Formats: sequence, structure tokens, C-alpha cells
Amino acid sequence: MSIFVDEKKRIFKLDSKNASYVISVVDKEGFVGQAYYGAKIADADVAYMLKTADYPWTPERYNRERVPFMDYFAFEYAGYGSGDYRPSCVEIRDEHGATAVNPVYKSFKLHKGKPEFEGGAAKAGMPAVFASEDECQTLELILEDAAASVELSLYYTVFDELDAIIKSVCIRNTGKKDFFVTKLMSSSMTLENEPSLDIISLPGAWARERRIQRQKAMYGSFKAGSNRGISSNQSSPFMAVAESTATQREGNVWGFSLIYSGNHEIEAFLNANDSLRVTMGIGSDGFSWKLSGGEFFASPEAALVYSGEGLGGMSRTYHDLYRGHIIRSKYKFMDRPVLLNSWEAAYFDFDTEKLLGIAREAAARKVELFVLDDGWFGKRNSDDCSLGDWYANEEKMPGGLERLGEEVHKLGMKFGVWFEPEMVNPDSDLYRAHPDWALHVDGRTISESRHQLVLDYSRKEVRDFIYGMISSLVRSAGIDYIKWDMNRNLTEVWSAALPADRQGEVFHRYVLGVYDIMNRLVTDFPDLLFENCSSGGARFDAGMLYYSPQIWCSDDTDAVERLAVQEGTALVFPLSTMGAHVSVCPNHVTARSTPFETRAMVALAGTFGYELDMTKLSDADKNAVPQQIAAYHRFGSLMREGDYYRLQSYRENNLWDSWMVVAKDKKTALVTVVQVMTQPSRKSRRLRFEGLDSEKQYSIEVVQLDKDTPLHQGAEADRDEFAGRTFSGSTLMNAGIMVHRTTGDFQGTMYCLTAK
Ligand code: GLA
Repeated sequence: MSIFVDEKKRIFKLDSKNASYVISVVDKEGFVGQAYYGAKIADADVAYMLKTADYPWTPERYNRERVPFMDYFAFEYAGYGSGDYRPSCVEIRDEHGATAVNPVYKSFKLHKGKPEFEGGAAKAGMPAVFASEDECQTLELILEDAAASVELSLYYTVFDELDAIIKSVCIRNTGKKDFFVTKLMSSSMTLENEPSLDIISLPGAWARERRIQRQKAMYGSFKAGSNRGISSNQSSPFMAVAESTATQREGNVWGFSLIYSGNHEIEAFLNANDSLRVTMGIGSDGFSWKLSGGEFFASPEAALVYSGEGLGGMSRTYHDLYRGHIIRSKYKFMDRPVLLNSWEAAYFDFDTEKLLGIAREAAARKVELFVLDDGWFGKRNSDDCSLGDWYANEEKMPGGLERLGEEVHKLGMKFGVWFEPEMVNPDSDLYRAHPDWALHVDGRTISESRHQLVLDYSRKEVRDFIYGMISSLVRSAGIDYIKWDMNRNLTEVWSAALPADRQGEVFHRYVLGVYDIMNRLVTDFPDLLFENCSSGGARFDAGMLYYSPQIWCSDDTDAVERLAVQEGTALVFPLSTMGAHVSVCPNHVTARSTPFETRAMVALAGTFGYELDMTKLSDADKNAVPQQIAAYHRFGSLMREGDYYRLQSYRENNLWDSWMVVAKDKKTALVTVVQVMTQPSRKSRRLRFEGLDSEKQYSIEVVQLDKDTPLHQGAEADRDEFAGRTFSGSTLMNAGIMVHRTTGDFQGTMYCLTAK
């Protein structure tokens, strides 16, 4: 059993395979404290961990020091305005303008599995972790503040086999008068007096997403968040707290990932007593939600992971969690069709014949899916018009999508199309007909970005209209794949359809609107392969994975830049979710040139494809394409289902990058090494593998991606060295191998390990 309850002592102990999380209620007032979260412990009664002082420390016996108690107690879910000056979890404003709220224990319920609660994320139209009844158990803690007419349900789902806890919160107005919820976190966690902690976050920018940042936890607050309306390029909804000594392999790490695609905040606050509180939830900037008597509001879900095996252990748990319990698509464990996307191949400069020329060459090279990107609709020949007019530009495309789709299908390929359904250009038929459908504030200039405005997805009629256009095209043109893009942040967030006291709801209602339309799409078209995108990876979050099994990782397709983007992304997200394409050199974003094979090796770490005009490739590169595709299929299930280990980080060592994926049964593994910048006076370098079976014997094949292009000299030396030999897992994990020195920048090598 994963949840233990001592009703008398009011203790709740949540155990997974290697972790324990203990909640204890103290004092006759019922303050709910978080006594412990970390490696598995045997005892449940660790309420002593909550002591804030040596004197009788709770208000029941020492009310004269109530405020210091409130300020130091490790609240499981902290209120606001009653003496706890750390970041709060819940804030409200009542009809008198009063804001204090102080939730205390009321009752609890235990549930098998993870039910869809009335106040849970799924019923509220948000992504939600799913699991069978025998995989997990759920605790519902009910807290209340009777004076404020507030009742809170705190949900905790604990898995037996995964060291993850899924949390969410529902707030209910139990009175008769309206109040406004101005902050509602999905989760809070406290670490008491850990000696030295680091905070890891994933900040970034367009084409430079999810760069791992590690810094010492300092007194005060560090906040990762977005108030852009989307999870954003700038700040992924993720944070980890790690012991300063923790590495990829060792040490205690706690991960916090929010399953949400809009404004968010994850705040780590270290107080003077060395107690670190981490809160996470919907961003509270500008947020307010009106609740009348009897109404409730549900938070998104948060996934907490504990790892005693360093950052690598945390990543592997997130990968298993999201692969198994958030991605719903039938494609999640299937070989994805290798695609060719027209964006970097042609941008806006195409007609049907040109596209078909590229498609024919791609089909001849065994590409399986042709994706028509931006530029096919309305009168769009640049990015300044036509978003919202989702019908084909017949001048460029006589016969429309239907004809192109038919021709692509005749070539034996699947057919994919790009849409940016949340947007409208001022220069579009849609905007001319419905100017009030764009988010705007009457009397103010609407801020354009890439010439475009944002449709008010909080309004059902807007969503219905757009959905009508897209769904009829999916049917008529036989679309097999959709790339859903979203290319700007939200501004002037005001909805013409809502009253003044509900405008603080628009950001969240917008996200709910996006979830609603995506849900309709994947429900109505279960065979559709759906890929998310947002200016590259600006909405690469766990929420989106509920709808699409893959997300375009970044507009930067340069193999070297991608090493860092993919390292940061894979810290949380499974490799199979990362859209990764081979493009031409010099790269369109960085102007850097890297070998064709290296580009393929880097893209093989994700969901593989091409983004180039295949008719313009050299013959040698054309010949390599079908072999690269064969490699993607050869290693497909391993990459999708295996365990990921980060071996080297170019970001840290400035020299080389390496990762490996080991099959769950440890019979095969694939290791990729990319020497980024070559350095003189270097000898061979030692590389230790991970995750193998120490008892098994492994052969090492140096994978030659292209039989007609010789291996680079280091890889050739490796091949000669390993030929005909086997090595035990213990040798490979402890002694490792010596990767031969190679000259030249950006050289990649792949090693396939097979157990004998
Ligand atoms: C965004 C996407 C790109 C491409 C363009 C088209 O930038 O990230 O992949 O689809 O839009 O305009």
C-alpha cells in the first residue's frame, strides 16, 4: 500500500518505491505541516521535524508567539496574511477587500487509483495524469478556513513504482457571498535545513530554448515563470532543487514540473532559518477568478519527482511518467513516420509543382510524411497577412490542399499541414468580419507581433468557427498530420465577451480554450498525428503532451545549438517527444556548417525528420538519407522506450557531448558522442557508460550511418579496437572505453551495444 494514514495522530505517509512524503497535522487548530520529503523512510511519525522552536512551539500552548510560529512552520499549503511571510499558496479578496486566509485541517479521503474528481484538472478541461487503479493511490486532504468560507481539496496521487507525486488543488466557496481567488498554487514543498542546495531551471529565448541554469539557492526568492500567456521560450514550467554535490549519477534531487501551458510561476524561497519553500502553479500576475457561493476552481496538476540517483534519476522518472501517464496519442509507442517539412525548404516561395518536386525526391529517398508548412492559405506570400483564412491559396495551389494531398498520397507518403489556429492577421477576411474576436482593449492600440493578433479563445464561437475550417480540411484533403503553431505572446488580454470582474480570468480561459479545441481535434481524428509548435519550442510543456506526442523543439536546427536545447529538454521530457530535423548548411539560424552525419545523429535523439529541399542535396547526401531513415527505424523503439543517461555535456565541458539510451531489458543500448570543438594536444578520452547490466557481456558496433561515406578517423580507430571483442557491463560502466581522438570540429560517433 502506498499511502499510510494514522488517523489518531493525523499523519499521512505517501510512499513510492524509493521515496516518502510525510504530512502531519499539529495543534488543536489543525495546522498542516510537511514533515518530510526524500529517500524512503520506515517511520511515519516524524512530526518532530516540524518543530519551529525549543519552547512549547504551537499556538495552542504558546499563542503569544503565534506570528513567529506562522512564519517558520513548514506549511503543507500556506495561506496569506496571518503571519507567514513566505510565498503563499492561496490568496483571495472578499467583498470587503479582505485578503487573509489561513487553511487548516478538516478531514481526508483515500481513493484507489487516480479518480477524475469533480474538482480535478481533467474535469476542468485540463491535461491530467492517468493511471490504472492498481498503479497508484490518491489522498484527498480537505482544509478549510471557515471565516473566509474557503474549503480546499488537496489531491496527492502516489505511484507504487514511480517516484512521482501528482498534486493539484481545488478551492470551493462554501459561503453565500462572492469572493475572488487571486492566487492558487498547485503544489508547495518545503526542505528544512538542507546543507547546501542548488536550483536548476530552464530559461531560454527563441531558438535557444531550455538552457540548463544551475545556481546556488540564496536567501530570498528565485522565480521561474511566464506571464506571456504561453509556457514560453523564456521559462519552461520546471525547476529542480538539488544538493549542491548532486551530479547526473548521484545525490538527492527534487523535480517540479507543472502540467500546464499558460502563465505559470515556480518560486523557490529560502528563509533566514534555511528552510526552502518551493511553490508552483498558475501565474498569479493579473490572475483573479470569481467564485460565487457553492462554486469551485481547479488548479492544473503538478508532478513532483524525488531522485536519490542525481539528475539522471529524476529525468528517467519524468520520462516514464510522461510517456506512460500523460501522452495519450496512439502514436506514443509507435514508430513515427519520418517527415520532410517545407519551411526551411521553401519558406513562402512555392507552388504545388515545386512542392511536388520536393515530395517526389523525398519519397524516392524513403521519407514517409510530407509536411506543408506556412504559406498555403488566404493570399499569404509573407508573414504579414491571412492568418485566420484557412482555405488554400488557389493561385499557388490550384486544386488546393485536396490536390496536393492526393498527389502526396499517390507517392506513398502521408500528408501533413501547418496551421496557426489561435491567430489572426489584421489583413485577413476573418479579422475584417470579426474584429472583436481578437484580444484587445477598447480604445487602445493592439500590440502586433509578427503582424499578428491573438484570437479570443476564451470564446466558444471563435473556437467553433476555427475548428469548423480546420476539421473540414482534415477530412477533404485527407490530412494525416497537423503541425499546430502559435507564434506570439499575448497582449491586451481582455475579452469582449466577459464582464469587468471576470477579466482576470481571460489568460486561464484562453488556455482552457486551446485545450478544448485540441481535445476535439484528437478525439474526432484519433488517427491524426499531432505535433505542437510555438515559435519553435515556446510551448514545450507537459500540458501539450496530453494532446500531441511530439513537439517541435526549437527553430534552431543547427546541430551544435541543438545539443544544448535537447539536453535541457531531455532533463524533463522523453526523447520521443522532441521534434528534431536535419537541415542544410550553412544553417539558416547560426550560419554554422556541420557534417551531414552529425546533423543526423543529433536529430536521431528525437523524433526524426528533414527540413530542407531534397532536390538540392548533393548526391552523397541524397544517398545517405534512406540509410539515416533506416537507422531511425532500427533504433526507434529503443529511443522511444529506453532509459536515458546523460554522459557528457558540451555546455559544461566546452569539448564534447554524449548521451545514451538503454533498453529496459538492458540488452541493447545506443551511445552518441559528438566532439564539438576539436582541441590540439588531446589524447583519447575516457567515456563511462551507464545503466547496463554489470553481469552481461556487450559487443560494441560503431554505427556507420552511411555505407558510402567513410567513418571519420576517430570512429574508424574505435571500430578497429572493438571489433570481435565483448566487454562486461561492469567494465563499460566503471572503466569505460577510450574514445579515440579525432581531428576536425563537430564529428559524431554512434555506438550500438548488444548483449550476448
Ligand atoms: C514558426 C515555427 C516554424 C515555422 C514558422 C512558419 O516559427 O516554429 O517551424 O513553422 O513558424 O511561419
